[in-house]
Amino acid sequence: MSEHHHLHNATVACVRLHDPASGLDGYIALHETDLGPAAGGCRLWSYADGDAAQADAVRLARGMTYKNALAGLPFSGGKAVLRRPEKDFDRTALFQAFGRAVAQLDGRYVTAEDVGTSVADMQVVASMSRHVAGLPPEAGCAGGDPSPWTALGVFESMQVGVAQVLGRSLEGVTVAVQGVGNVGADLCRRLQGAGARLVIADTDAARCFALAKEVGASVVGVDQIASVEADVFAPCALGGALDHEVAKNLKARLVCGAANNQLATPDVAALLLDRGIVYLPDYVVNAGGIISVSAEYLGEDAGHVGQRVAAIAPRVAALLARATAENRSPAEVADEMAEQVIANARAMQAA
Ligand code: NAI
Repeated sequence: MSEHHHLHNATVACVRLHDPASGLDGYIALHETDLGPAAGGCRLWSYADGDAAQADAVRLARGMTYKNALAGLPFSGGKAVLRRPEKDFDRTALFQAFGRAVAQLDGRYVTAEDVGTSVADMQVVASMSRHVAGLPPEAGCAGGDPSPWTALGVFESMQVGVAQVLGRSLEGVTVAVQGVGNVGADLCRRLQGAGARLVIADTDAARCFALAKEVGASVVGVDQIASVEADVFAPCALGGALDHEVAKNLKARLVCGAANNQLATPDVAALLLDRGIVYLPDYVVNAGGIISVSAEYLGEDAGHVGQRVAAIAPRVAALLARATAENRSPAEVADEMAEQVIANARAMQAA
């Protein structure tokens, strides 16, 4: 069964996943444009109902198109959202069933790990379909955990942002990091190396204190991290970190972090602009992960990944220059730049 939503002239096709035997229940959303096949991770999460899962898949797939477009990748946006079964379940059977669904799409969708899924899950998918990435790397090829690449892109973007907004290097700059999981922890290590001061928070207290000890960070509560005295706020937990309340109370002058969908609602971008806070769009700075995963799928080597990740910070610089010159939010300018890339791909197809 397939439903269609119209968003920005491109159709989001939704494939329903439903296999009672394994507990598979969810959606694959394909925001198909002329950029190429749809690529984006597979999320396993608890949702109130099927509609909530579908809405998340559609929103995330559309976001992936913008991310892929600006990162210069030959892919449209896709996303799989699986509803976590309430009772105990057979994880292998679930991901085998998901793998069969991916196989049926025959390359229209390329999957990888995301929130709630792992390399091991993707290895199960790979037993059913070759349209999967985020597997352990083969010698000489790109692949493996994409988090370090994501952290690198965020770090270099932050350097550009701090230079532009504060006119200084990261030395002595205070960065508040919300969420110190795979990406957040790696980012903290890089920031420590650059001489930044760190304030961190994580709902996982043990993880938070262990990292604090390692990198010499101070720890605050999760309800304080967004309003703590800091120069930079780095959301690296889940989405929606920036809502009206947070935007009003933020002391940092720059926001740059790895989390997807940081703006709880699009109008928060304007609120931040009004307050003189520079928000570096999430999907521009956190593209390192999809850059690594897509290179793996395409059979490229780590050198290609390094080159594309190195292009993120200069892109941020160009984006900021344009946003400043036009007194617009970087989020709005980034969307426009991505839409231009999509339109160019359409024109190429038509020619
Ligand atoms: P992760 O699951 O390893 O880390 C997330 C951390 O945030 C966990 O330690 C968790 O305990 C913590 N957390 C959850 N809610 C919190 C809250 N309210 N306050 C403070 N901490 C909280 O995930 P990962 O891989 O580090 O990703 C982080 C974010 O970056 C996610 O939004 C993800 O979608 C995004 N992202 C990750 C990429 C990657 O390569 N891993 C690529 C692009 C985006």
